Amino acid sequence: MVNAAAPSESPFLAACRGEEPDRTPVWFMRQAGRSLPEYKRARAGTAMLEACRTPELVCEITMQPVRRYGVDAAIFFSDIVVPVAAVGVDIEIVPGVGPVVAEPFRTEDDVKRLRNLDPCDVPYVTEAIGLLGKELGDTPLIGFAGAPFTLASYLIEGGPSRDHAKTKALMHSRPDVWHALASRLAAICGEFLRVQVEAGAKAVQLFDSWAGALSEADYREFALPHSTAALAGVAQSVPRIHFGVGTGHLLEAMSETGAEISGVDFRVPLDHAAARLPGKVLQGNLDPALILADEAPLLAATDAITAAGRAAKGHIFNLGHGVLPDSDPEKLKLVVDRVHETTAR
Ligand code: CP3
Repeated sequence: MVNAAAPSESPFLAACRGEEPDRTPVWFMRQAGRSLPEYKRARAGTAMLEACRTPELVCEITMQPVRRYGVDAAIFFSDIVVPVAAVGVDIEIVPGVGPVVAEPFRTEDDVKRLRNLDPCDVPYVTEAIGLLGKELGDTPLIGFAGAPFTLASYLIEGGPSRDHAKTKALMHSRPDVWHALASRLAAICGEFLRVQVEAGAKAVQLFDSWAGALSEADYREFALPHSTAALAGVAQSVPRIHFGVGTGHLLEAMSETGAEISGVDFRVPLDHAAARLPGKVLQGNLDPALILADEAPLLAATDAITAAGRAAKGHIFNLGHGVLPDSDPEKLKLVVDRVHETTAR
């Protein structure tokens, strides 16, 4: 028997705790961004990282999907590379490409370029979350960070990579350098999460977007200890969501980080994930491409996911990865309304 949540409780936070919310909560990874015309207007003329450092703009962009879709949680508008840029790494987000690092990290000496993050390095984060406190009302804010493996891949490759070859080569050739780099990143990510929680974030998500590129053995040896460390700092304070793409073979290993909620991408049915992860709350997992499909198949897929989610201890509806830039906001709204209507208790 699950405990029923108090009537005034946020459905998102109730689901995070494994209690029974009055409806299945829904939010979307990358809900704030290029699919929204109001986002494009707000961002015009401001570079991505500059936008992340402008509290009024961060507050406005974080609120846009909450107003438009009525989602059950807001995700803080920032980026996984913000904390590494804040400790002095020369990194840029190139439109249509992603993060690009001026001098990639390859050696022992490179690791020394990463110092610890101090809350004073990211005053704009604390300030933006303060502004959001007034705007959000009862809607909880999710803070986030990139996991050490995913961040290290950008730093080592110098930019986005399909095969993460230089990263894997370094791990195996110089495990000492790898672990030194990843543990520094874990400390930075952990502190970035802590700053957000201290400022008012009610949950956090660790994005290990590219962890699916690792075998289970490599994940356990080279990534798991550092993701566990990154999440440990906020363990007693807020629910923690952990997500990766193409991680069907890693679900059990990833759940060992201690995160209370496992993000599931669209390749693994939620009822299968529930059987493999007893006691975990699940988040996911509509294929983001379905938002571009016609209404009938989109609604059918949405209903199938809410049904499969009932096999889990708790379910937070989301996409199986981020909103695609060509998504029609009306279709996302349709999904939010459908989930709410079909799961109201
Ligand atoms: O809406 C939200 O989810 C909140 C904000 C958010 C952004 N990035 C804003 C953003 C979040 C949670 C992220 C996380 C992030 N950033 C991840 C993990 C999530 C995932 O998708 O797997 C990763 C891998 C990054 C690195 C990154 N930043 C990429 C690959 C890109 C896309 C580059 C491009 O233009 O195609 C970015 C830029 C970025 N981060 C944008 C946004 C809204 C687009 C930049 C723009 O609008 O100019």
